[in-house]
Amino acid sequence: METVVSGIRSTGKLHLGNFYGAVKNFVQMQNEFNCYFFIADYHSLTTHPTPQDLHGNVRQVLIEYLAAGIDPEKATIYVQSDVPEIAELYLYLNMNAYLGELERGASFKDKVRAHPDNVNAGLLTYPVLMAADILIHKATKVPVGKDQEQHLEMARTFGNRFNRLYNKEYFPEPYAFNFTEKLVKVPGLDGKGKMGKSEGEGNAVYLSDEPEIIRKKVMRAVSDSGPTEENQPKAESIQNLFDLMKIVSSTDTYEHFDELYNNCGIRYGDFKKQLAEDMIIATAPIREKINEIAKDETYLRQVARFGAIKARESASKTIREVREIIGFKSF
Ligand code: TYM
Repeated sequence: METVVSGIRSTGKLHLGNFYGAVKNFVQMQNEFNCYFFIADYHSLTTHPTPQDLHGNVRQVLIEYLAAGIDPEKATIYVQSDVPEIAELYLYLNMNAYLGELERGASFKDKVRAHPDNVNAGLLTYPVLMAADILIHKATKVPVGKDQEQHLEMARTFGNRFNRLYNKEYFPEPYAFNFTEKLVKVPGLDGKGKMGKSEGEGNAVYLSDEPEIIRKKVMRAVSDSGPTEENQPKAESIQNLFDLMKIVSSTDTYEHFDELYNNCGIRYGDFKKQLAEDMIIATAPIREKINEIAKDETYLRQVARFGAIKARESASKTIREVREIIGFKSF
């Protein structure tokens, strides 16, 4: 059976981008593959190092994983820092990751642009840690959004380089995965780019947002003054809202509004109202479970401890083999 690995950084609540890019696939994949889904708290230290927030953020992602339907009986759910073998593999992979290739990483360049005052080595080697996350379980499928495609390419590079260096076909090649065949990029509400936590308040719709909040955010989403001629190409902000509708609404609804747009008959107020209601319907079952699961501390502890044991079983086997391949021997 093929092995699947994916994770989400513990930097706060999950949004629709995390859900449609990643978690929705996790839920489907757990029925078909040997799955490891984790909470990337080591990764969160590159940008969110506040000790008081660390555990709360990890707990939030754990709750939302469970609320979205990841089942600890089917998939291994764990916290990255509970599996120190990952940090050890990261160390070995770092020995063969080169400054030039890491500096060319698109996410690294974005982070440097956004936070020129905090260009730490953890940010630079972020893709190496991510490769360690994946290779530690020798995974071949990695459900992620479009923004992670380059990181997957780097994970293949590091795995293949290790294999070549030690002349052994040890690590298999991992590929980004989405059931829809195409990797997803969920747009945000700011009219510009993808939905994200760091893209500013109001850009992201969270799975835990109450209906009133979702309505407010969508009604305030950036739009334009409307089409003036038939079949006019859509501005980016409008295209983004249509893309969101394609994700959360039915095909009929999407086509209805698309036709209205093309006939210059669209009223953005109605369009946004429909979009907000469909987002509310799509997130309602998860939101309700979030509130329920958050109360059950014993269950959360059980899930995390059980997951850590299972993840370490697989990770320590890999580390034992890797140490042997590298040539470490105990006296
Ligand atoms: P993070 O926390 O930034 O994102 C978690 C997942 O959500 C997806 N995602 C999106 N997908 C579509 N549209 C969006 N607007 C959107 N925003 C976020 C991301 O693609 C990702 O799948 N580096 C990873 C965390 C990680 C990881 C790993 C993933 C660490 N190690 C090993 C897979 C395997 C990340 O960026 O997380």
